[in-house]
Amino acid sequence: MNAKIISTGSYLPEKILTNSDLEKMVDTNNEWIVQRTGIKVRHIADGESTSDLAYKAALDAINKIHLDPLDIDLIILATVTPDMPLPATALFVQEKLGAKNAFCFDINAACSGFMYSLSIANAYIKSGTVKKALIIGAEELSKITDWTDRSTCVIFGDGAACVVLEATDDENRGILDIRLKSDGAYTNLMRVPAPGSIKQCSEEVIKNREIYIKMLGNETFKMSVRHIASISEESLESVGLNFSDVDCMVCHQANKRIIDAVVRRIKIPAENAVITVDRHGNTAAASIPLALDWANKNGKIKEDDILLLNSFGASLTWAASVIRW
Ligand code: COA
Repeated sequence: MNAKIISTGSYLPEKILTNSDLEKMVDTNNEWIVQRTGIKVRHIADGESTSDLAYKAALDAINKIHLDPLDIDLIILATVTPDMPLPATALFVQEKLGAKNAFCFDINAACSGFMYSLSIANAYIKSGTVKKALIIGAEELSKITDWTDRSTCVIFGDGAACVVLEATDDENRGILDIRLKSDGAYTNLMRVPAPGSIKQCSEEVIKNREIYIKMLGNETFKMSVRHIASISEESLESVGLNFSDVDCMVCHQANKRIIDAVVRRIKIPAENAVITVDRHGNTAAASIPLALDWANKNGKIKEDDILLLNSFGASLTWAASVIRW
């Protein structure tokens, strides 16, 4: 039994924040942002929760294939910006969709959250426990972004995207391999220090801006390229393929320079790499399904194509998957 993606969907909030808007907020400029990140605009949720974005992305995916929400067995929602600490945001999405027969939970693996969720759903499908699953990446990073810190606020955005995964008897189709890695030695590279069990919410925590993302961007950048390339090679090798077989690479959309560096390192044609980071910034767990949905909607993926999905996230998580579409 294999797991196959049978639909994709996405939702980006209406409000757009441009680089020139950011020029008025912090000491930055459009040229620096475009040159260092490739980002031109990001979307910002205004009055919508993470589960609202996730619900709209899920509807987009299920409506395309006229899927009855009652036929969904599993909903996994990847996020670092849940509606609230408890209960899981996936349950709010279940209720909004009316997916009464699904069991639902959230996954936090930062920018690799979608890949971790896909891997879990793949295992459930392979075991025969689940027939249809929704895998959603949804984020409101604007809520944990320090809008006074120019080194981070230019990068992040809000959005959500979803794939529908279904069991298939065809062993040569769908997810051929998916693999995950983590390294807890680098939890200092990126974190939101509070509120949590170490530091609860207090006036001091708020004053020190510890409720926002702290990131060592340059160190993260360097490790990302190396890790993405090596795990991608392992994943392809495991199914007897190599980089020249890749028709379409959907990399985590953190920074166009990271994707360009991966493309150079693994030597695939630049046009085979999907780029959407310019239009929504780094949306963490939502970024790979957003890019995948864009590629799917815009005819960049054909039946039988070999897709390489790869991610890198805090702190540290990384993953790769080889899919025959
Ligand atoms: N506008 C203008 N200048 C800025 C700036 C901004 N928004 N942010 C930082 N700078 C300055 C720095 O202060 C530094 O100035 P200095 O040389 O005078 O000290 C200079 O630009 C270079 O900073 P640096 O951090 O080395 O830039 P960079 O090329 O590494 O780009 C990131 C910064 C954050 C865009 C890049 O490191 C990155 O994308 N990292 C990965 C982050 C990521 O993906 N995190 C999520 C995990 S997936």
